[in-house]
Amino acid sequence: MNKICFIGAGNLATQLSVSLQREGFAIEQIFSRTEKTAGELAARLNTEFTCDPEAITREADMYFVALKDAAFEKVLHKIDFQDSLVVHCSGSMPLSVISGCSANTGVFYPLQTFSKTREVDFRSVPVFVESDSEGNRHMLIRVAKKIAEHVSVMNSEKRKILHISAVFACNFVNHLYTLSSEILNSKDIPFDVIKPLIEETTRKVQVMDPEKAQTGPAVRFDKKIISDHVEQLSGFPGYAELYNSLSKSIFEHHQKSK
Ligand SMILES: NC(=O)c1ccc[n+]([C@@H]2O[C@H](COP(=O)([O-])OP(=O)(O)OC[C@H]3O[C@@H](n4cnc5c(N)ncnc54)[C@H](OP(=O)(O)O)[C@@H]3O)[C@@H](O)[C@H]2O)c1
Repeated sequence: MNKICFIGAGNLATQLSVSLQREGFAIEQIFSRTEKTAGELAARLNTEFTCDPEAITREADMYFVALKDAAFEKVLHKIDFQDSLVVHCSGSMPLSVISGCSANTGVFYPLQTFSKTREVDFRSVPVFVESDSEGNRHMLIRVAKKIAEHVSVMNSEKRKILHISAVFACNFVNHLYTLSSEILNSKDIPFDVIKPLIEETTRKVQVMDPEKAQTGPAVRFDKKIISDHVEQLSGFPGYAELYNSLSKSIFEHHQKSK
């Protein structure tokens, strides 16, 4: 199970293919819809690329599908995988979404945030695998353990919950950093000033229950400060609504847990 083809050349495909190649896997080919992204990743890996689904190699032992979830249906039916092992990397798509692609299918879900330009140490990334066949499950565990230390088996239903949790813990939090940065920039304050606070918030939940770590006007139910902040946010369309909604969630959550 050494020859690999990537279907997709985005954030995850980039970091995963680089890590697999580093551990001795042969990345035979990259497929993506645009020549730019397919070509860039292929050049980085010193391998072939194609944008034609019919020109996808039949020589690979394993195909990693790392496409935008909404593109699965449109792209996958055009590819003849024969009966090679086809795995997707999505948190929320069930295993069954690729069951028509091959007799051998699976899921390989790394729980981390990946960007093309940011190197990630895959060793510390938890990987969750799934397959209907015991043989393929073992194969996926073996491949995952070559690049990652924490490998577990998880079904599609639980993986979806994991993904929702990740959206809250990573994607939403990161969006709030973006808004925080814009609020600071409106008064020419650099985002750097808030980085120690971000670091401590992240460090604190490594050792404390996040519920117990909550601070701020909403958990204190400080109505005066909340309405003052909302007024200040009038120049940022939509921000006051989000501020109120999150404050309400914090307040209600902490009232319930009292
Ligand atoms: N990024 C993460 O942090 C992360 C973490 C864990 C799992 N995943 C999973 O990995 C998979 C890929 O995510 P990603 O973040 O790597 O996505 P991405 O960077 O946006 O890359 C998406 C890939 O899908 C292709 N694509 C997008 N729209 C398409 C369309 N309409 N038709 C055909 N191809 C299309 C893109 O092609 P072009 O670039 O050629 O346009 C690109 O190859 C998803 O299943 C995601 O759930 C991602």
